[in-house]
Amino acid sequence: QDPEDAVPVGQRRAWCWCMCFGLAFMLAGVFLGGAYLYKYFAFQQGGVYFCGIKYIEDGLSLPEPGAEAQSARYHTIEENIQILEEEDVEFISVPVPEFADSDPADIVHDFHRRLTAYLDLSLDKCYVIPLNTSVVMPPKNFLELLINIKAGTYLPQSYLIHEQMIVTDRIENVDQLGFFIYRLCRGKETYKLQRKEAMKGIQKREAMNCRKIRHFENKFAMETLICEQ
Ligand SMILES: *[C@@H]1O[C@H](CO)[C@@H](O)[C@H](O)[C@H]1NC(C)=O
Repeated sequence: QDPEDAVPVGQRRAWCWCMCFGLAFMLAGVFLGGAYLYKYFAFQQGGVYFCGIKYIEDGLSLPEPGAEAQSARYHTIEENIQILEEEDVEFISVPVPEFADSDPADIVHDFHRRLTAYLDLSLDKCYVIPLNTSVVMPPKNFLELLINIKAGTYLPQSYLIHEQMIVTDRIENVDQLGFFIYRLCRGKETYKLQRKEAMKGIQKREAMNCRKIRHFENKFAMETLICEQ
């Protein structure tokens, strides 16, 4: 007699169900794991852009087309940009510039918290100021812009805008500035900034110790001057 026939039919059926459930669980695990890994890697790859912008050093006017001599006045800013659309956050990492009159920096624009933080990597100091939405493009639009210029790497000719900030109070509790700024500024000396125009009682010619960070988060280049009184 066949030994299998000796096993009762009910037991054989139960064993088969077990096997089926086991297989189903395994397959589900493989699918979920795969989907997770795919999302993780897609995020890792798609999330970071290396981009440049060309701008004219001074004045808002673009030179006449065809003026060859003028092209020497173009400068470039290159930076790494990561945009988290769901979290409404932009990360910008400015490497040491070619002509080093400005500082390398890491910048966080947190649209959820409505704050911007600059970490000046030369000084290892952090500066926090309310987000200026007329200067910083929202994540969705900025991402669109990056995708559009990705093929060309560089934005067409642009211009430079200057802004000047004054260092004010020290911030002791960086953990109250949201996760992303906390991650940037923890363990660093952190200060509040205020726009120069917004401050009263500052004389124009007052000698100040300033650092420059050149970056972009819009269609134009931005020079942020951070000054200590
Ligand atoms: C935002 O930036 C623009 C351009 O630099 C400036 O004119 C404006 O005053 C700023 N707004 C705030 C609220 O700081």
